[in-house]
Amino acid sequence: MAIDITPCSPALGAEIRGVDLSQPLDDGTLQALKDAWFEHLVLLFRDQDLTDHDLVRFSGYFGTCDKAPPNEAANKLSDGYSPDLPEVTIISNVVVDGVEIGSLGASECAWHTDMSYNPEPADASALYALEVPEAGGDTAFLNMYKAHDALPDSLKERIGGRKAIHDATFTSAGGLRKGLEPPTDVSKAPGAHHPILRTHPETGKTMLFLGRRTNAYIVGMDVAESEALLDEIWGYTTNDDFVWTHQWRKGDVLLWDNRSVMHRRDDFDPSVRRLMHRTQLKGEVPFYTG
Ligand code: SIN
Repeated sequence: MAIDITPCSPALGAEIRGVDLSQPLDDGTLQALKDAWFEHLVLLFRDQDLTDHDLVRFSGYFGTCDKAPPNEAANKLSDGYSPDLPEVTIISNVVVDGVEIGSLGASECAWHTDMSYNPEPADASALYALEVPEAGGDTAFLNMYKAHDALPDSLKERIGGRKAIHDATFTSAGGLRKGLEPPTDVSKAPGAHHPILRTHPETGKTMLFLGRRTNAYIVGMDVAESEALLDEIWGYTTNDDFVWTHQWRKGDVLLWDNRSVMHRRDDFDPSVRRLMHRTQLKGEVPFYTG
C-alpha cells in the first residue's frame, strides 16, 4: 500500500496513512517517514494495534530508545497492557490500589520540551494511546523554527550566544520532582544550561530552544532583566499560527521531534481513564550553536 502524507495544519504535523507499525518497516518506507518527519516535525499514525515491543521497534528506527527515567520507573506497575519493557514509560491518571500507575495525572501540562533540564535532552518522543477520554487531554505542538523566524532581528541579536537554565525542579504538570526544592533564586535553579538558539543537526535550520517558562533564567543577566527578556521571547513564541492541537483516538501514535517542537496538554476529567505508553530517544548528536 502506498504511503499517504497529509499535513495536519499549516503550522506542523502530518498524518501518515498506509503504514502498519506492528510490522517491521522496509528501507524505502523508513526513508519516506524520516523525510516527512523532518519536514512536518510531528507524525500521526491512526488505528494502530501495537505491543510494547512494536512501539520500541518503531521508535528505534529514528534513534536509540532511552530507559524510562528513574523517578518514573519507580511508580510503573503493570497496567494490563505492558510487558514491562524498560524503554516504555506510562503516562496516565489511572490509580490502582492507591498507587498511580503512570506519570502526569489528569492536570494540564504547560508548554515544554521533554527532559530539557538534562544536559542531553531527548531527541524525540513517541506516544501511543491505549485509552483516551471522550473530551479533554488534547496535546498541542508548537513549531520552534517558526517561533524563531518570527522574532525581530534585534531580539535575535540580544539572545544570540546566550544560554538559559532549564529548571529541573518541577514536572510539566507542576509536580515537584523527588529530592528537589522549589528555587528561591532562579539564577541558582538546578538544571541544564542550553543555548537559546540552536541548530538542528538534520535540517541545519535554527530554532528557539526554550524548554519551559517556569523558573527559566538567562545566564549572566539580572533576574528582573532575564524575566523581562524571557517574557518578550515567549510572547512571540506562543502564537496560535505556530500550533497544531491533536485530539486523541485510541490506537493513535504520535512521534515528535523534541528538538524542534514544544508541546503542552489540556487537562481532563480525572475520573475518566487516559492511558498512554511513551518511548523516548536519547539525545545523541549535539546541536549547539554555542
Ligand atoms: C507530555 O507532556 O509529555 C505528555 C503529553 C500527553 O499526555 O498528551
